[in-house]
Amino acid sequence: MKKRPRIHKSRRIPQLTGASILKLRPYQAAVFRDNRTGIIVLHWARQIGKSFTLAAWAVDRVLKNPGRLVTVLSNSRENGAEFVQKCGEVCTLLADLLKSIGAEVTTQDLSPDLSLASMRLEIRIKTTPDDGIERIGRIKVLAANPRTARGFSGDLILDEFAFHEDSAAIWEAAEPILASNRDFLCRIASTGNGRHNLFYRLAMPGISPNQTHLSATNPAIVSPSPGGEGRGEGVRSTDRCRFRTRVTGLVQNIGNT
Ligand SMILES: Nc1ncnc2c1ncn2[C@@H]1O[C@H](COP(=O)(O)OP(=O)(O)OP(=O)(O)O)[C@@H](O)[C@H]1O
Ligand SMILES: [Mg+2]
Repeated sequence: MKKRPRIHKSRRIPQLTGASILKLRPYQAAVFRDNRTGIIVLHWARQIGKSFTLAAWAVDRVLKNPGRLVTVLSNSRENGAEFVQKCGEVCTLLADLLKSIGAEVTTQDLSPDLSLASMRLEIRIKTTPDDGIERIGRIKVLAANPRTARGFSGDLILDEFAFHEDSAAIWEAAEPILASNRDFLCRIASTGNGRHNLFYRLAMPGISPNQTHLSATNPAIVSPSPGGEGRGEGVRSTDRCRFRTRVTGLVQNIGNT
């Protein structure tokens, strides 16, 4: 009898499977799949999946880059805990995928007390890539302040950035780290919160000369196709969906006028 060839179980992360398993809307999938653009600013309406998209992106970054650190700066303990919960939801939805590559996920609250300043929440994802060496990637959720923004290494997520106290100082601390490490990606998301914050200036090109801040990082752009296709449920029909690209980063406005 003919001997069947032995099938080796691949530990490689299947490409682009996550977006469909997670049932991401087109405007979310465009952000989820982008692993090239240095900085992306998401100026999206409320409750249309900013945190869910960023949580999915963070999990995907760790899965595709075993041992990676993704730092999330959050403006409150509630938002930080919610982000961790969303990462958990993503991992639950990807359970089969994680199992097929032998990944293990654990969540820990390492905060020494209940103050926002000392918040330290972690999602650990242990993977064993093709080289057989076990690596632990982490998504670390910390309080948003200039100190934490100065200390990160890896990818950076600023969720609800328009609501961060001291957003200009946070950006001033983080930007040089991003600028000198082209491999570090940054994702900034928020709904608008008036004009007196850095998010407004980042999201509204032409408003302030300070937006050249963005220009220090990776000039590569992956721009999703413009037009209405990115509209998802939860976006009112009168809302505009448009993408703006710049030489150095990408700003997406969805559901905001
Ligand atoms: N693609 C999706 N399919 C189904 N449900 C989704 C999807 N994306 C997000 N959701 C759900 O929509 C709700 C809002 O998502 P999320 O909290 O990520 O939005 P948000 O824009 O960050 O909200 P907020 O403005 O309050 O910060 C959540 O219950 C989330 O699980
Ligand atoms: Mg949110």
